[in-house]
Amino acid sequence: MEIHPGEFIAIMGPSGSGKSTLLNLMGCLDVPNEGEIWIDGNSTGTMTDNQLTDLRLNTLGFVFQYFNLFPLFNALNNVHYPYVTRTGRVHDTTRAEEALTDVGLPDNFWHHRPNQLSGGQQQRVAIARALVNDPAIILCDEPTGNLDTKTGTAILELLSALSTREGRTIVMVTHDLKTAGYADRIIRIVDGKVEG
Ligand SMILES: Nc1ncnc2c1ncn2[C@@H]1O[C@H](COP(=O)(O)OP(=O)(O)OP(=O)(O)O)[C@@H](O)[C@H]1O
Ligand SMILES: [Mg+2]
Repeated sequence: MEIHPGEFIAIMGPSGSGKSTLLNLMGCLDVPNEGEIWIDGNSTGTMTDNQLTDLRLNTLGFVFQYFNLFPLFNALNNVHYPYVTRTGRVHDTTRAEEALTDVGLPDNFWHHRPNQLSGGQQQRVAIARALVNDPAIILCDEPTGNLDTKTGTAILELLSALSTREGRTIVMVTHDLKTAGYADRIIRIVDGKVEG
């Protein structure tokens, strides 16, 4: 299968069909037993650990179903962390503040810890964290799976805007046909095989 720059893709398929596995492979969080994954003209199988780390840090952003925020870090520091990892600029939170503003989290929540935020706010923080290093590709596993419909719609509109307005490539796993409706194209997977 091929995904083109700027596409907003939904990956659909039954539970256990391999959606998360596929996304983790694309994100170089997992390695394939067979086959190859090419990102931006490079085969990930031939990359060194350092090159893979660079790729994850510079080119890819991840958004998870259960947010996966650091519970002891406030919202700002959760977003700031990957930026520090990339740049070493510990004291410059400007970029993290920008990312939180872009996802619509008001600044009076920036010093709240995840458990002091609603699910929708936590997912906004997680999206800001995915965006902080300006990745071309954003990978989301059921990003609205734990949100109410209204909050979920706001998150989907945000992802959609990132694709249409900023030309980012978005790959989103979802069970829900309505959620998939926000994507440009649906890729279906059954028993570990991509259909069509
Ligand atoms: N670490 C692992 N080791 C071995 N098998 C695994 C591992 N993780 C997942 N699997 C198996 O791989 C298959 C695909 O799992 P995967 O998590 O990708 O499914 P999924 O489509 O994301 O399902 P869901 O919709 O329930 O999240 C399943 O049969 C699962 O049991
Ligand atoms: Mg899954």
